[in-house]
Amino acid sequence: MYNIQTLNKIAKCGTDLFDAAKYNIADEIDNPEAIMVRSAAMHDMQFGSNLLAIGRAGAGTNNIPVDRCAEEGIVVFNTPGANANAVKELVITALLLGSRKIPEAMIWANGLKGNGAEVGKMVEKGKSQFVGPELYGKTLGIIGLGAIGVLVANAAAALGMNVIGYDPYLSVKTALRLDPSVKSVSDIKKVFAQADYITLHVPYNADTKGTVNAETLALCKDGVRIVNLARGELVDDAAIIAALESGKAAAYVTDFPNDNVLGVKGVVAMPHLGASTPEAEDNCAIMAAEELIDYVENGNIKNSVNYPNAEMTATGTKICIMHKNVPAILSQLTTILGNEKINIENMINKSKGDYSYTMIDAAGEVTDALSDAFKAVEGVIRVRVIK
Ligand code: MLT
Repeated sequence: MYNIQTLNKIAKCGTDLFDAAKYNIADEIDNPEAIMVRSAAMHDMQFGSNLLAIGRAGAGTNNIPVDRCAEEGIVVFNTPGANANAVKELVITALLLGSRKIPEAMIWANGLKGNGAEVGKMVEKGKSQFVGPELYGKTLGIIGLGAIGVLVANAAAALGMNVIGYDPYLSVKTALRLDPSVKSVSDIKKVFAQADYITLHVPYNADTKGTVNAETLALCKDGVRIVNLARGELVDDAAIIAALESGKAAAYVTDFPNDNVLGVKGVVAMPHLGASTPEAEDNCAIMAAEELIDYVENGNIKNSVNYPNAEMTATGTKICIMHKNVPAILSQLTTILGNEKINIENMINKSKGDYSYTMIDAAGEVTDALSDAFKAVEGVIRVRVIK
């Protein structure tokens, strides 16, 4: 029986995928084999020796100590694209919220309550204070053309916007999905200099922290509108507040408000609603559950952020070895099998950064002693034998 711990509420259609005969799922479990999580903070958690994997039902993994997990042989999965449509729809909403002054206008309109028959007249008289530009014909700069960025780009192009995108890691698969009118630029400064609206779709890490800052805002057109439904830390608070106060920025729409930006004129704050749709919650839960099941039962890795993708079917015993991405490990592993006269039917070795994953289809019995011999190889982090 495998134990799965859920740290947040996970959609039932996802947890239902775990076969009840093999899995026990609960929010309080000691030393689980896998954890399912949405946004719960995991940086201070100590992980038990049984923990094989963490499935993040969502895209961002900044709530998980991804590097420490790699070091401990714990695979961290996410669900890229599973909530992309939900986020895309909110980005289009955010562009309009920031442009057409909708939040202020709604507050004002509600404040007319109690004026009886005069309300209609007051609406017509007061509405001019909420005039804001259309999106059509304006330039949208997209920083990050991944699963969400590409959908935003295509939707904005369909609304008649000129779209320019920046993504140094743009994949061929994504590039092929982009509307042909979308211009991809290799210099992020061009996005800042040319865009009327800028939206961020990159993960938060040391490289992307403060992507929108005093320097990049200085490159922007006056009255630029910034949309940030990705992570709060991508925008420097002091810089965006100063830009809103000086008129350099006309609006900052964020799904990650904090105490600094709340209440500042021009800030539209939402409570991290990007993926809050039943459809996205279902899609993420299903994808995370499928990834965990395939890893726990078969050792296959798909959509991991700290180990390479690797899938292999085995006819014999599958040996799954997580190890450092350094020379001479493979030769030591194959020698161990050779010395035991165990033939390798098939083998796959993949690397991601400092870490590698090797799966061996071995035609023979893999004893505990053999498994221990693999573990003793310097650089080997974890060994699992799946029969
Ligand atoms: C994501 O990272 O997938 C979105 O921000 C939504 C979420 O945190 O669940």
